[in-house]
Amino acid sequence: MNSFYITTPIYYVNDKPHIGHAYTTIACDIISRYNKLIGNDVFFLTGTDEHGQKVEKAAAKSSMNTKIFVDKMAQSFKDLVPYLKCNIDYFIRTTDENHIKASQSLWSELIKNDEIYLSNYEGWYSIRDEAFYSDSELTKINNKFIAPSGSEVEWVKEESYFFRLSKWEKPLLDFYKNNPEAISPKSRYNEVISFIKSGLKDLSISRTTFKWGVPVPNNTNHVMYVWIDALCNYLTAIGYPDKENLKFKKLWPATHVVGKDILRFHSVYWPAFLMAVNLKPPKKVFAHGWWTNEGQKISKSLGNIIDPYDIVSQYGIDQIRFFLFREVPFGNDGDFSKNAISNRVNSDLSNNLGNLIQRVCSFINKNCNSKVLNTFDKSNSNDNFILNLSIEKFDNYNKFMKNLEIDKAIKEIFELLSETNSYIDKESPWKLKNNDEKRMNTILSVAVEIIRRASLLLYPIIPTSCEKIFSIIDLNKNSINLNNYKSLPDNSFFINESFPVFPRIEVND
Ligand code: MSP
Repeated sequence: MNSFYITTPIYYVNDKPHIGHAYTTIACDIISRYNKLIGNDVFFLTGTDEHGQKVEKAAAKSSMNTKIFVDKMAQSFKDLVPYLKCNIDYFIRTTDENHIKASQSLWSELIKNDEIYLSNYEGWYSIRDEAFYSDSELTKINNKFIAPSGSEVEWVKEESYFFRLSKWEKPLLDFYKNNPEAISPKSRYNEVISFIKSGLKDLSISRTTFKWGVPVPNNTNHVMYVWIDALCNYLTAIGYPDKENLKFKKLWPATHVVGKDILRFHSVYWPAFLMAVNLKPPKKVFAHGWWTNEGQKISKSLGNIIDPYDIVSQYGIDQIRFFLFREVPFGNDGDFSKNAISNRVNSDLSNNLGNLIQRVCSFINKNCNSKVLNTFDKSNSNDNFILNLSIEKFDNYNKFMKNLEIDKAIKEIFELLSETNSYIDKESPWKLKNNDEKRMNTILSVAVEIIRRASLLLYPIIPTSCEKIFSIIDLNKNSINLNNYKSLPDNSFFINESFPVFPRIEVND
């Protein structure tokens, strides 16, 4: 059994969760469920990033004690996970005691390896991004200096510990040369390589002007730069500093799914820290794109934040999961629009998959005593075409899912479903009821088998709906896996009372 460790970024608790956070968590859930279906031993981690100035300021603004504020916010992120039908293995909070200890151990190891020194930092800092910027990265707008993310920066001058990032330039380039799959998509890989080649400067990794952070061991004037403690969460969750425990040995290194905004932290700083304490760099960092809302940047100041609770209660969880990953290539930016959700759900889920289930299964309910004998006819070229196509699509689906090309994997399934609907149109089993029951049975067997196969493949993406389909075709959800995808079931299919799994969304223009 292969082990597979997948993580989301840990989310800042300065505000409640929005659709962007939900997106990354669902992406990891899809990948995690897929890996379970192929028999991997999966560990799926998410959680909250609770230290730093940004969070401290948000707490102060709400006039709440910082710890009480972060407890409340963290809970809303935690509650969102099951609401999105995501099955995680661990929810980490950076204010957890074991995490504070783990971050301090990481720091001490870096000190021991002479990777950290004390000096002074003078330069730009963005609280919103919790990031340091150099002059060359900034633009001057209305007399203010603005970071590439659009956030304002302030001038910081303080004593600071530094990590010897510059010495990792060459080892990082060597690592990426030998492991090009460690950053995806490819365009992001190129972006990181040119950033490293442009020269790495040592990185300021502690702050002295506020207190809301993990105390630096042996110098309590300093708290760790929030990104040090944040990145360490991926190690804490599997037992670090105990690197010898079975779980740690089995699971490290991880696959990190992140937004494109935080690629640099994960693919430059993080692997350098890891190498500096003799740990392997991440197996893969996948950077996905950014969602806008009806063409506009999603932001609090524009008042167009999409609340995942609202949108899910309006459309249904699978409808949203499906839309997010069917509509936009995973890795690209996407635009969230109500029209696009309705069109996508209606055309693929209701008209294609839903229609196939409804017409085949309710026909079997009404005309075949809810039972079809599996009499596959190996000599019929139309039947063979569909069954072979489902194998070809399965192979493509696996290839895409392993590459985290979720949209392409889904597309394969829907091409199969469209072909199956055309096959049913052509073969019209309903016309055979009175003159060729045997042939009718065979066609229905093929159709139900495709419904079985398609719902197995769709399970990672729309698990709740697939469980409904399993119940209609009498498949035990506890026994599902992709290893028996290709074998034709030899008993008859029993079809339970069929019902519309994907009601159409009414579009009001
Ligand atoms: N706390 C850091 C991450 C530390 S990881 C060791 C952080 N948190 S965050 O709350 O600002 O956002 C984290 C992630 O949320 C982004 O990287 C991205 O995955 C997701 N998204 C937030 N807004 C988004 C969109 N508008 N669109 C898509 N994803 C977005 O950065």
